[in-house]
Amino acid sequence: MTEAVLLVGGQGTRLRPLTINTPKPMLPVGGVPFTVHQITRARDAGVTRIVLATSYRAEVFRDFMDEADLGIEIVIATEDEPLGTGGAIRHALPYLESGPDESVLVFNGDVLTGVDIRGLVDHHQATSSDVTLYLTPVEDPRAYGLVPTDLSGRVLAFLEKPTTDEEIVTNNINAGCYVFKRSIIDAIPAGRPVSVERETFPGLLEAGALVTAVVDRGYWLDLGTPLAFVQGSCDLVLGAAPSPAVPRHGDFLALPGASIASSAQVHGGSVVGRDAVVSDGAVVNGSVLFDGARIAEGAHVIGSIVGVGAVIGAGTVLRGVVIGDGAVIGRGNELLSGARVWPGAELADGCVRFSSDS
Ligand code: GTP
Repeated sequence: MTEAVLLVGGQGTRLRPLTINTPKPMLPVGGVPFTVHQITRARDAGVTRIVLATSYRAEVFRDFMDEADLGIEIVIATEDEPLGTGGAIRHALPYLESGPDESVLVFNGDVLTGVDIRGLVDHHQATSSDVTLYLTPVEDPRAYGLVPTDLSGRVLAFLEKPTTDEEIVTNNINAGCYVFKRSIIDAIPAGRPVSVERETFPGLLEAGALVTAVVDRGYWLDLGTPLAFVQGSCDLVLGAAPSPAVPRHGDFLALPGASIASSAQVHGGSVVGRDAVVSDGAVVNGSVLFDGARIAEGAHVIGSIVGVGAVIGAGTVLRGVVIGDGAVIGRGNELLSGARVWPGAELADGCVRFSSDS
């Protein structure tokens, strides 16, 4: 197994407004674009060639990959119209070099995981499966489609999100990483949107294909929401999430050109982006400051994301919020619990106290 397809063409709607300018897999997490963590983990597991399946804002990937040297061959396949997860895998087929019986690894581009990639491929080959899925157990599976298996690990069904307790037949969910026998990719319909989860996998079961699963209890996080995005970034910096691409572990990570005043406190795995500024008396805890963000004196930024070049006024408190690129938040504001400020927006001094319960 030497090839992988990385699905990075989604619009990342749950992470708006951050994904208006930058596609989700290119947002900086733990100091580098998220996709770099995935590519370097795959590289270290023996993958030598990756097809990046792009669609939304494909040019951002192209510009980055033109400059980057990640020690692995990267080929970019761009859909004119988004083809969905299955359609994107099918669209990547002409870019693959694997033979029909060879194994092709497929990753969702927003999953941070410590899964044993080599072990997954070995299982796929040892069982001669058509497709092997990586499953992860979650405490509360109500928000996810469920994937029950028999004792041998053969997948029995792909179930929609459970609505009653009786429907929770397993805690194992699709973790967004698969191994395909290449000939299975050939059979996905070309040129139209296809969902691998809703169409391809259930269709394979119906046709009697051998679909198996490996349950891995290691680190797994879907970085689709702001809360998860911040958590993933902090876990990478603190060393709780595995990646060869984190510049260094510690209580925080300051990128080149970042400036942190001596009386400021930065911790909880926060990242201070390139040329970002944290002023005297400011507190940044468990947060991500993108490049050029400026946190004025005495501001508190807790569990939040501050976009590129955004400015947070003196004494302002942010807790669990997302501030878009270039937004300017005046002094003395308080934004709490899920507030999102759009790129370039301006809030005057002391005019806003937002929280979901106010
Ligand atoms: P949300 O809009 O917030 O749900 O995020 P998303 O756009 O990333 O969608 P989702 O999380 O369901 O997608 C799972 C993975 O598939 C992500 O890595 C997406 O980038 C990728 N993906 C989704 N749709 C497409 C598509 O049409 N083409 C390609 N190439 N990738 C896709």
